[in-house]
Order: sequence, then structure tokens, then C-alpha cells
Amino acid sequence: MTTDRSKPRILVARAVFPDIIDRLSRHFAVEHNQGDAPWGPAELAVRLADKDGALTTGSERIDAALLAAAPRLKIVANMAVGYNNFDVDALAARGVVGTNTPDVLTETTADFGFALLLATARRITESEHYLRAGAWKRWRYDMFAGAEVHGSTLGILGMGRIGQGIARRGAHGFGMDVVYHNRSRLGPELEAACRARYVGTDELLATADHLVLVLPYSAASHHAIGAAELAKMKPTATLVNIARGGIVDDAALAAALRAGRIAAAGLDVFAGEPEVHPELLALKNVVLTPHIASATVATRRAMANLAADNLIAFFEGRGALTPVNAVRGA
Ligand code: GLV
Repeated sequence: MTTDRSKPRILVARAVFPDIIDRLSRHFAVEHNQGDAPWGPAELAVRLADKDGALTTGSERIDAALLAAAPRLKIVANMAVGYNNFDVDALAARGVVGTNTPDVLTETTADFGFALLLATARRITESEHYLRAGAWKRWRYDMFAGAEVHGSTLGILGMGRIGQGIARRGAHGFGMDVVYHNRSRLGPELEAACRARYVGTDELLATADHLVLVLPYSAASHHAIGAAELAKMKPTATLVNIARGGIVDDAALAAALRAGRIAAAGLDVFAGEPEVHPELLALKNVVLTPHIASATVATRRAMANLAADNLIAFFEGRGALTPVNAVRGA
């Protein structure tokens, strides 16, 4: 921690590439958390009390109580494209700018969505566990027979940049029929580029062989996939969630997977993560990953640099680069 009082004071709430700290330190007095453990709300409140800006991750909840403890705070730069850890109304009420990291992670996250779809449909982790456990004694015609991916129907719920990336991979790489649902329909050019057809949610659920969730988490999308929705899916279908925990009702999903209501699920995000619903952990037909969809070195560097760019541009008076809310003078 530096004590240079002439520079704006910044808190970096979670560990980040050391050279990002060096870069920020050329512009700011930086206090940082290069340890492994996140700071809880009480500790964050104390550390933010004299800060002008913060670099956060999805682990830090930025709400009215925290903002009240940070009277100098003007900007919070999230190192994530999702920002459901922000209470945007509370940010607006205090005139604090929030920023996220769009675009730089789109293709990497779409790659991972597809990887999770393939791993789930083709039972890759389940079969690897079987092999490692020494259970593989002979070949069998139906051993780990999964669901076809090429030529099947890919459903996408949430057709922002990442959803479009998954659609392009499915349509152009795997010859899939792509159907999607989104709050607003894409324009004809984007639909043509993705070779995707807009449908209502019932048709999406009923026709998808593989359904990928890529929608932002909000009160409106809480449990968007629950028992009723799972009941409308094909019993052979796979479900992939790379969006946010809470969009899927994990208990209902575990029950559906156990009962064979759907075939399998690939999950990178969980309600209450890093805790994972114990019933999901006990099931074989689930591929579970620890929220790593954007985790390549290059993309995590790009995300950290974009968060830093937002802080630097804002305090140089150039305005935040990727704000998620409109604040006067930002
Ligand atoms: C990761 O989940 C992100 O929102 O960037």
C-alpha cells in the first residue's frame, strides 16, 4: 500500500496479475488484496472508507450499506461482464459509476460454453472418472453412449454477444439448427450470421436437444429454469448453464436429472457458489466446473486491463469506457 495522497486512492479487492497492480500504481495510491481469501462486507467497508475507486470481481457485493461506508467512492470497476453483484439502484442513488468488461471475453466464454456442451452430451468427465477408478475392463457397444451434437437442435436462452458466439459455433461448426429466445429479437442480419431462428420459450424448451443459458441474472431471470420448464424439455436433452447460478433452480434440476426428466447438465455457475447443491454433487450425469468460462490467461488479462482502463480513463476525466449505468459527469 502506498501513502501518496496526491493520487486518487483505489482498492483492488481481489488478487489480480501483479503487473496490473504495477500499472494502477502509476496512476493511483493502491491498496490491494493479493491473498487468496476474499474480503467480507465488514472488511471491505473499512477499506473502502477512504477510497475514490475500486476494482472488484463478482465475489464482492456492492450494495447500499457498503456504499454508505464509502463516501468518497466514485467508480467501481468490475472484472466481469456480469454485474449482478452491483445494486445498480444504490450506485445510481450515490452517483457512483459501475463498469464491467464486455467484448473482451465473448469468444473465450463462447468456446467454453461449447466445451461444456460437448463434455455433457458426450459424457466426457463421467467416462474419465470411470477410467481413473479402474472400472474399464472391456469395450461395450453402449458404454457411455451419449447424445449427438452435430446436426442436432441447439437452443439458446439469452442472445447477447456470448449467445451469438455459441450460435455461430453450433450453426457453422457443427451443422446444428439453432433456435433462440431473448428479451428482444435480433435484427435480420445478426440472425442470418448466427443462422438462428427466434422462438417463444415453450418452443425453445420443447425443441432443443441442447439448451445453453447465457442470459444475465436479475429478479426477472431468477429460476427461469425450474421444475415446470424442465418438464417441457426432451428427456434426451442436455442443459448447459454458463450464465449465473440462480437462473436455474438447482434442487429442481437435481430432481429432474435423478428422475431422467432430462439426460444431463453441464454447470459452470451455481446459486450460492462456491457451495454446490449436494444433490448435484452426487449425480453422475452432471459436469461441474468452478465458474471458469472466461478463464484463459489472455482473456483474464484483457478483463483486468479493461477494468484498469476504466479506472484510469475515469480519473483522467475521459469518462468510464464501459459503464453499466449513466451517471452525470462520468
Ligand atoms: C463471469 O461470470 C463474468 O460475468 O464475467
